[in-house]
Amino acid sequence: MTNEITWLGHSCFSIRAGKYDLLVDPFLDESPTSPVKAAEVAADFILLTHAHFDHLADAIPIARRTGATVVANFEICEWLKGQGVAEEKVVAMNPGGGVDLAFGRAKMTSAVHSSSLPDGSYGGVAGGFLLELGKSRIYFAGDTALFLDMKLYSLGGLDVAVLPIGDVFTMGPDDSIEAIKMLNPRRVVPCHYGTWPPIVQDAAAWADRVRTHTAAEPVVLNPGEMFTL
Ligand code: NI
Ligand code: MN
Repeated sequence: MTNEITWLGHSCFSIRAGKYDLLVDPFLDESPTSPVKAAEVAADFILLTHAHFDHLADAIPIARRTGATVVANFEICEWLKGQGVAEEKVVAMNPGGGVDLAFGRAKMTSAVHSSSLPDGSYGGVAGGFLLELGKSRIYFAGDTALFLDMKLYSLGGLDVAVLPIGDVFTMGPDDSIEAIKMLNPRRVVPCHYGTWPPIVQDAAAWADRVRTHTAAEPVVLNPGEMFTL
């Protein structure tokens, strides 16, 4: 199975996994860097790492238009149902748990971060996803600090790790290098940077550091660009 991963700016990724379209953390219409609008993206599944607006903003309209199933933590799923998303269109989970879905397996990972919904209500804990798509294993860290348990997510091997490097709200470039050493992925993709002035980073300089200090191949994308694994 070939998987294509497209960066849609910030923390939003579109993944073509076999015949399924996955959308991670849709933040498009209000994103300064998104190359597409929420009305244009395909989705069979929408995966949400946490409840912050820059990850969940367009989830409901996209779910409504496409009929996609939303995979998120329990509290976000309860909130989505309160917003009119059908019970059979949400898959609720929590860190440590995994579910087998049509496209493969999704395990929710831990993250060190906060999580509140747009109306201020409790969004559960922030997380990430470890996806098994055919033989490929992909780790989306979500918004997080560096934490030692990332070492555990290297077990079984990772083809790709997607890490935030923006600093301020998540780990920055320095800590991302330590994360890559623990995760030991074949390839690493940076995200959650360049969207607004506080999180601007020099991705080319970051990529040089990745090549020098880790065994991973950095894959720096512009919004709208994709790579295949
Ligand atoms: Ni966040
Ligand atoms: Mn964020």
